[in-house]
Amino acid sequence: MVADRLGGGLVERGQVALEVHPADDMYLFSRALTATPSLGVMAYFRAGLQIYDTIEQIITWYFGGFDNVEKFCDFACGYGRSTRFLSARMEPSKIWGVEILPEAVEFQGDVLGVHAVQSATDPDDLELAGPFDMVFVSSLFSHLPGRTFSRWLDRLHALLAPRGLLVVSVHDVAILDEAEHGAMPEEGILFVQSTEVAALDTADYGATFVTPAYMQAAIEALADPAATHWRLPQALCFEQDLYLIPKGEPRVTAAPEIGRGCAGAVDHVAFASKRVLSLDGWAACLDAPGARVSLWADGTRLGTVEPSGHRPDVAAHLRSYRPDHLASGWQIDVEVPRALRRRETVLSIYAEGADGAGPGFQLHCAPLGVLCPMPSIGQKAAYELRHLRGVVDKTAKRLHL
Ligand SMILES: C[S@@+](CC[C@H](N)C(=O)[O-])C[C@H]1O[C@@H](n2cnc3c(N)ncnc32)[C@H](O)[C@@H]1O
Repeated sequence: MVADRLGGGLVERGQVALEVHPADDMYLFSRALTATPSLGVMAYFRAGLQIYDTIEQIITWYFGGFDNVEKFCDFACGYGRSTRFLSARMEPSKIWGVEILPEAVEFQGDVLGVHAVQSATDPDDLELAGPFDMVFVSSLFSHLPGRTFSRWLDRLHALLAPRGLLVVSVHDVAILDEAEHGAMPEEGILFVQSTEVAALDTADYGATFVTPAYMQAAIEALADPAATHWRLPQALCFEQDLYLIPKGEPRVTAAPEIGRGCAGAVDHVAFASKRVLSLDGWAACLDAPGARVSLWADGTRLGTVEPSGHRPDVAAHLRSYRPDHLASGWQIDVEVPRALRRRETVLSIYAEGADGAGPGFQLHCAPLGVLCPMPSIGQKAAYELRHLRGVVDKTAKRLHL
């Protein structure tokens, strides 16, 4: 999966660290949502690649490419879900990975080779020397209490070089499930004490939702308020809003065009007969109408399908009633060549925009033996028998028996 997205060379030369720390909360989170450990690893790398894709698009739009970024700070970087990809594309010596969990700080330095810095609960206690061209904060403000939210925003914005860019992700009120978390208070920030990172105090780190008005006021209250900022709804992993907050005069005035790509899933994978693999799921491009799903086995394309099945549940999930989102179901039967009918064959299923809109998204990537039970000898015999019966029936009809 990583080699497909970033190019095999980076993986073979060992530039992308594939080691996952057993205490990595983001891996444990992906693991909890998937059926097997290997699918958990797949989901973890997929999310990391998605975040990396977003960083790459922002850097290209705002700085004109990685070469123009001298100092990058991945704040609250965890165990490097996305830092590992960034440190393969950029010199690790240009990256600062800052975290509150000491073990994660160690992993960032020892395994990813970036400058690893210990953070603090209170913004005033952070010892970090800027200035940075870009400070990127994925999924920290979506967990901070109101008590430290604006103070962290101010502390991180102050670390920017002139014309630098702060990028933070938040849970917008639009995705608040009131039945689960309660209603949004008038002030525009809702903090719920809950654990996602077991080692942290739920009073400092829980689940946070904000309104755009709250963010606007927090940005205007910065010591050096940005002349402008951009909000990209649900641009990070189809879920969190991104706020892009420059320092001083912005380098570009045009609004960012950051593709969110395709969302989707594989719902079922099973052999319908000895040779034919049958799959279904959904896929929807969030940038432009139309999506295409393609299926590969060990690098061989097996088939392509355009979604057309009625999926009101997907439209509701995406909070969109675009006709192509309502018709986002897909189903495909493909014949798997004999040589590829093995447990180890890696099946990759991609979704991409019909006109190449936005980044592609890997719906699934795993060995066939993990995704579905391979036909047993008994099943194979049953398929053969069914086939032979069909031939006998047809012949009998032709002969008017
Ligand atoms: C949801 S995780 C996201 C990790 C990473 N950014 C990613 O997207 O994979 C949030 C991270 O913020 C870290 N964190 C919490 N409070 C922090 C603080 N005050 N300073 C730095 N990191 C903090 C947590 O330990 C955790 O690793």
